[in-house]
Formats: sequence, structure tokens, C-alpha cells
Amino acid sequence: MAVSVNERVEAPGPRGLPLVGSALDLLLNFLDTTLKGREKYGDVVRYVAGPPGRMRVVAYGIAHPDGIKHVLASGSANYSKQDAAYNELRALVGNGLLTSEGETWVRQKRLVQPLFTHARVAGYVDMMSEESDRLVERWTEMKKQDGTVDLHSEMTRFSLQVVCRALFGSDTDRIVPVLRDNVPYLSRKAFTRSLSPVHIPHHWPTPGNRHVDRASNEIYEVVDQLIADRRATPSGSNDLLSLLLNAQDPEGGRGLSDAEVRDQALIFLLAGHETTATSLTFTFHLLGLHPEIQQKVRDEAEAVLSSRLPDHADTSKLTYTTMAIKEAMRLYPAVYVIPRLVEKDDVVCGFTLPAGSVAALSAWVTHRHPDFWDDPERFDPERFTPEKEKARHRYAYFPFGGGPRACIGQYFSMLESIISTAVLVRAFEFTSPPEPVKLFNGITLRPNQAMPCRIEPTG
Ligand code: HEM
Repeated sequence: MAVSVNERVEAPGPRGLPLVGSALDLLLNFLDTTLKGREKYGDVVRYVAGPPGRMRVVAYGIAHPDGIKHVLASGSANYSKQDAAYNELRALVGNGLLTSEGETWVRQKRLVQPLFTHARVAGYVDMMSEESDRLVERWTEMKKQDGTVDLHSEMTRFSLQVVCRALFGSDTDRIVPVLRDNVPYLSRKAFTRSLSPVHIPHHWPTPGNRHVDRASNEIYEVVDQLIADRRATPSGSNDLLSLLLNAQDPEGGRGLSDAEVRDQALIFLLAGHETTATSLTFTFHLLGLHPEIQQKVRDEAEAVLSSRLPDHADTSKLTYTTMAIKEAMRLYPAVYVIPRLVEKDDVVCGFTLPAGSVAALSAWVTHRHPDFWDDPERFDPERFTPEKEKARHRYAYFPFGGGPRACIGQYFSMLESIISTAVLVRAFEFTSPPEPVKLFNGITLRPNQAMPCRIEPTG
């Protein structure tokens, strides 16, 4: 029977500890807590964090694809990004397309969307191929000293280089080291602050706040400098920075100010490199554990590419490679949880979500939902044949979100992943150690340790 918004049907969930509720479980062990929460309580689970009263956060873990679809797409007008995690992110990286809302977001989207059409993004394929080839050279040299590479640091380096080249053309030397030093710290900080029941204002001069200020100021300074240089001497190039600086509002409004260009650039850097790095890290890790699947990816790369580097037409022919990447993103979704603030009382999957609570959509949990995935922990790219994808609920799999706020960089990151996977698997055989990987869930998911993988040249 349908439940109306006027009836209150409270979702089940753990009571947690007195005063803190489930805050510690969520902070220290989010992935396991939410996975077990679904098993024990069902598709909507109520978690409380913090003491009763104004400081208490009530969050609803939603695992059923119908609920995901409602919050992200069909009912999205009732769900905002005014939750604690997005507030923290905004304080750290400003008001770009990922963090903005309302009219500001609508205008930004109008200005930025044309930069991410398939035709535009296809223009980055040669650069992605070139960077993949440079990685083959780098690993060939590294292999001479030691037979292993640390997948996570290598893929972070690679994806940072790719997104920086897309943004700044050849101007990457100044920005790459600054981001490499500061982004992991800021990402970790945003996550811990968003779950902490005690909120120290950002402007208080605590050592933690000063460290955050230093880290974000360092990033701001280089990006501002790159923008000022480009305004002074336009490069005539087609990188994203030039496109942002020249973006015209199709509805006749003004273009983007320098501060807005910086906010967009920061969002692309942040949203576009840790996420792709995680996806690639786990793709290679899983291929390194499954030699027969790895061989199929290699056979495909050799059949499609022979000894060439991929061009844009090749990417749509690398179908099995794409399936393997999608399956790795199912098991290890970089954006493992999407939060939203519930604006008005609502009903999701038969349970009340009161205004002011948080809807937490966890890809980590839904991508393992046994009603939608057989033997969910098994790595099996065959789950992503076109027929199987079509037969499945659209929101049983949402690594790039969905609805109006879906990822604008999805095509960019898929092309980058397909190209680098094909080129690297053609060049090397990967063997991963069988031990389970310890994970760290900050704003994004990543390994909490080095990810050594043995590589052997194939040819
Ligand atoms: C594997 C790689 C990536 C993953 C898993 C990923 C995931 C996501 C997800 C889940 C969202 C939705 C967040 C929400 O609804 O709260 C999102 C939004 C976004 N992503 Fe990505 N992303 C990836 C790569 C990229 C890249 C390469 C870029 C840019 C160069 C990018 C830029 C953005 C932006 C700007 C948004 C906000 C869109 C909007 O709200 O209109 N992402 N991404």
C-alpha cells in the first residue's frame, strides 16, 4: 500500500552508542557498516550520528535502485547539496559545477556543458594515447630496477597528468606537484569534518584549519596565476582553460569571471583525477587477479589496435575492455556514496524521509545488492554485455550518479580508462598479490596502502 507524506513510517536502523549513535561506525568503517546495515535492516536504513538535539544528524542509507532513481532523478527537486559533506567540499574548493546549486548551477551548466560534448572530448584522445604510451616507457624503465609498480600512485600520477593537460595544455609542470601534495589531505579532511558531530568554524585559527588554508591557498595561487598568464597571452589552444575563459552564455548573459573559471577548473581537477585513478587502479588490480580475463582484454587490444596507439574510432571497438572497466567500477565505485539534504518530508521505498535529514545513496551497497547482482563479490565483466545492461534496473549501477546532476566528465574518464587499459595490457602482463586491499573512504574511495603489482613485458 502506498504511504503518503502525511503518514510517518520510520525506517529501521541501528540505535548505535549513547550520545554518538552510529557516528564512530560510519567514520571508521563506513563501507562495512552500510553493507551490513542493508543486510540486516533492508533497503532504507536509518542511522543517527551525534547526541540528541540540534547537533544530531539523521541519515537514511538508501540501497534500492527505485530509491536511488527517486532521489537523483524523478524527485530530485526535493534533494539539495546543502548536506554537511557538500558544505565541506564547497568550503574547500568553492562554487563550481559540482558544488553550486539553483540559478548559479543552471547558468554554469549552460556555459560548461558545450566543453564536454562527445565531439569536444574526442579531441583529447590523442593526448590520452600519448600519455598512455609515455607510461609504457616509464614502466619499462622501472621494470629494469624492480618487477613491480605501485598501481595507485602510478594511476594517480597518470590521471592527474591527463586532466591537467586537458585543462592547461602544456602548462602542467607548475600545477601537478602542488595538487599531488595537497589534494589527498583536503579530501580526507572534508570527509572527517562532514561526519564529525563537533563543527569548528573554518575561520578559527586552529592548527587543522591553518593546514587546510595553506593547502587550498597553494592550489588557488597556482590556478590563479595560470589564469592570469592565459588572459595576458591567449594561447589560441583548445584546452579547457581557454574554452572556459572564452565561454559565452547562449542565453546572452555574461561569460565566466576569473574567480568562476578558477572554481570550475578546481572542480575538474578534483572531480576528474582521484576518481579516474581509483577506477584504473582497481581495473588493473582485478585484471592482475584474473589472468584469463586479462588475456581477453589483451587479445581484444591486439585485434583492434595491432601495434598502433588508439584513435577515437578504436575506443568504441574495445568493447570487452569497456566491460572490464565497468565491472571494476561496480566493485570499487570511486564515488561510493552520494549525499543529499532532504528539503521537504518525502517518502522513499515506503519510508518517511523527514525534512533536514540526509539521503545517502551508496553505490558501494547498491552495486552489491543481491536482488540485482548474482554472486556480487565475483569479478565478471560479462555482467556488462549490452543485453544484460538493458535488462537491468537503470539505477542498480550508478558510478557516475544520474539525473540532472550526473557526472559531466563521464565520457572523458571512460575514454581515458579504455585507452590506457588497452595500451598497458597490450604491453604488460599484470599479476596482483591475492591479499585483500585495505580501503580508505574519504570524499572518494581509494586504497589505504600501496598497491604493488608485478609487471612483465608481453612482447
Ligand atoms: C571514474 C571517474 C569519475 C567518476 C566515478 C565520477 C563520478 C561522479 C559522480 C557520481 C557525480 C555526481 C555527484 C552527485 O550527484 O552528487 C559526478 C559529478 C561531476 N563530475 Fe564526475 N566522475 C568521474 C570523472 C570526472 C571527470 C574526468 C570530470 C571532469 C573533467 C568530472 C567532473 C564532474 C563534475 C563537474 C560533476 C558535477 C556535475 C553537475 O553537478 O552538474 N568527473 N561525478
